[in-house]
Amino acid sequence: MSRIRSQVFQNKVMTADEAAALINDGDQIGLSGFTGSGYPKALPGALAQRIEAEKAAGRQLRVGLFTGASTAPECDGVLAATDGVSFRMPYQSDPKMRQAINGGVTDYCDIHLSHSGPVVRQGFLGRLDFAIIEVTAITASGELIPSSSVGNNNVYLDTADKVILEVNSWQSEALEGMHDLYYGTLLPPANGPIPLIEPGQHIGQPTLRVDPAKVVAVVETDGTDRNTPFKELDAESQTIAGFYVDFLLNEVKQGRLPKNLLPLQSGVGNIANAVLSGLLHSDLTHLTSYTEVIQDGMLDLIDSGKLDIASATAFSLSPDAAVKMNDNAEHYKRHIVLRPQEISNNPEVIRRLGVLSCNGMIEADLYGNINSTHIMGSRMQNGIGGSGDFTRNAYISAFVSPSTAKGGAISCIVPMVSHHDHTEHDVMVVVTEQGVADLRGLAPRKRAQAMIKVAHPTYRPLLEDYVAQAAKTANSAHTPHDLRQALSWHVRMLETGSMVPSA
Ligand code: COA
Repeated sequence: MSRIRSQVFQNKVMTADEAAALINDGDQIGLSGFTGSGYPKALPGALAQRIEAEKAAGRQLRVGLFTGASTAPECDGVLAATDGVSFRMPYQSDPKMRQAINGGVTDYCDIHLSHSGPVVRQGFLGRLDFAIIEVTAITASGELIPSSSVGNNNVYLDTADKVILEVNSWQSEALEGMHDLYYGTLLPPANGPIPLIEPGQHIGQPTLRVDPAKVVAVVETDGTDRNTPFKELDAESQTIAGFYVDFLLNEVKQGRLPKNLLPLQSGVGNIANAVLSGLLHSDLTHLTSYTEVIQDGMLDLIDSGKLDIASATAFSLSPDAAVKMNDNAEHYKRHIVLRPQEISNNPEVIRRLGVLSCNGMIEADLYGNINSTHIMGSRMQNGIGGSGDFTRNAYISAFVSPSTAKGGAISCIVPMVSHHDHTEHDVMVVVTEQGVADLRGLAPRKRAQAMIKVAHPTYRPLLEDYVAQAAKTANSAHTPHDLRQALSWHVRMLETGSMVPSA
């Protein structure tokens, strides 16, 4: 049976090249897609080819791209490679897009994921010319069954002038019913409380709405989602995960967390995945998760019977796990809810549920300020993503990272972060392979002592020395800093390739 069950939409079927020909220079496009899942598989490539053809003919075709979050090489990557992306928002993690952003070819607006939908609704980013959205199927009455991510699709479908739909037959039809589209997120003062009080609750409808009059093209595809496989868990990641799980178990022992914890948020990357594996090997049961992406480790936790319910906005699965999910979508549907990112990352809901956040970082400083985005203060890595949404509103906010990078040449614990994403006021716990810095309730001088303990032994004496010197400066006060020396570690790295001083 066709995935396009409505004749109105059948009549709009065309090729990706024909649909790409509708896009004009200067258009702003809202794309589906969130961490390598649910992004359009055909239009980006067709548009990239058109951009190159226009360039060859001496004409300019550049577009602004809005997404849910990062996508994949055949979406962000192919478009960035043409230099045809003038603007990009919000999170990305593609090497070619990163190059375009850092090279000044693409203007990048790195905002909290929970803000990305509302700012489009507010309209200050200008009008959205197109929404290009992947769906699993179109029902006979013209409702859209979402695919493996929801992201900002509801916002882009609502606000774009024109809509192009990609109907992807690779996505399992059993995804129908896994999504919860809440249509009550209005701009103030028309908004009200979001009635979500449990992670697994459905408060909306299973389908996305679209005005059929806005749909200018329907394209059929069968491309697979594409996420990078996770690395094999190394000893360091397992140690960090073990420390974090032990920290949570101690919170239970102290009576500060219930036996099944509180809803878990797990960030992107290998260490976050290692934490999930750590939970798998613990005695914890009846866990819940309120997070942004479902990673491989979450499926393992569901399979083991330890995780009852996981709420997210997208899958972020390795190729093998994506096949497993697709083949068993009926089973996983009982344990997984996919929502718009304005709900999965909503500060009001995160605060109400008491989420335990756990995210990666680039560096932390002595006082617990965190840099999640910029290498050496200047070079954009990925973006803030949802880390701010969760950290600021978590019941307990944690960051997990090795204590060093680049084979030990860089300390991830530094006197002063070279870029601020999360302030000391929001950061409660920092975990490295050296241990746990529990910063809760500590004044700055005591925070510094706790942070030095989780730094690598190579850098501990240097940090102690910095603190001692800072205490002697004329302006030493509540938060001791020697401003002449504060960023000297980064300067040393840039000049010598290492933060370790030469003998
Ligand atoms: N200084 C300089 N470079 C550093 C560094 C530091 N302190 N720490 C890490 N790096 C480099 C690594 O060497 C690596 O470089 P490479 O790409 O050249 O190999 C790169 O930064 C990424 O580091 P890696 O250890 O592979 O990162 P990760 O997969 O653990 O991710 C973040 C860490 C911070 C990049 C990632 O968690 C992120 O993008 N966070 C922000 C968004 C977020 O938290 N989202 C989840 C919210 S729900």
